[in-house]
Amino acid sequence: MESSELIGVFDSGVGGLSVLAEIRRELPLADLMYFADQGRAPYGVRPLDEVSAMSGEVSEWLLDRGADVITIACNTASAAALHQLRARYPEVPFVGMEPAVKPAALNTSSGIIGVVATAATFQGELFASVVQRHASGARVLTKACPTWVELVERGEIDGPRARGQVEQCLAGLLEGGADTIVLGCTHFSFLIPLIEDVAGPGVAVVDPGPAVARQVRRVVGYSDGDARLILATSGDPARLREWARRLAGIEGTEPVLACVWNGG
Ligand code: DGL
Repeated sequence: MESSELIGVFDSGVGGLSVLAEIRRELPLADLMYFADQGRAPYGVRPLDEVSAMSGEVSEWLLDRGADVITIACNTASAAALHQLRARYPEVPFVGMEPAVKPAALNTSSGIIGVVATAATFQGELFASVVQRHASGARVLTKACPTWVELVERGEIDGPRARGQVEQCLAGLLEGGADTIVLGCTHFSFLIPLIEDVAGPGVAVVDPGPAVARQVRRVVGYSDGDARLILATSGDPARLREWARRLAGIEGTEPVLACVWNGG
């Protein structure tokens, strides 16, 4: 591919910033546009067809603004829409996400893997097919953790309330014998220190962000862009700017764009 592609990246909110940070590590000069659909977050509690329609609108928004490649930095949107988006825009490379069951199955000693994600991700055919193809005989326990998405959207990644909610979601998985926890939602990457602390030293936490960023680099090839970074949101631009800095150490190179659905 050409060297100055604009890479569009999207999520329902700030979770995908964890993937964006990894993409910047892989491709430091790449021009990037990140869209947080915060006006309509969370995605994970909605029916898949609704998430699919919203993912289509966001993709169109990014393509209209010049994106050449799109990274769906959201497991829920990937589960709901990756196949449809590839079919609708055959000329556009889409990089999607799926829970990293494969590396977890290769590394588990107990033979039991815990996957944390949104309810919608577990309902999608993508998750069933990932387990079928990659669990390699390991037992897969699942837990939907919608409160973790809310925590991260509020920028609350430590403190007693966050810890309590992490403990609550992990309890069944740890009691069930999981020695590997797969993060199946990009918001959860910001909770890794807390998850590791609650799970303890015998439990590995698998974050797919770095592998997805390497896949983006494989698709783009190389990049000698201008390291532009445009942030955009359907929610509050000031809040996205602040959270991007605080959660991911990311500063946009231009003012945050605001998107108002149904209104331009
Ligand atoms: N960050 C999204 C994911 O990876 C979902 C969060 C939400 O529920 O909106 O699944």
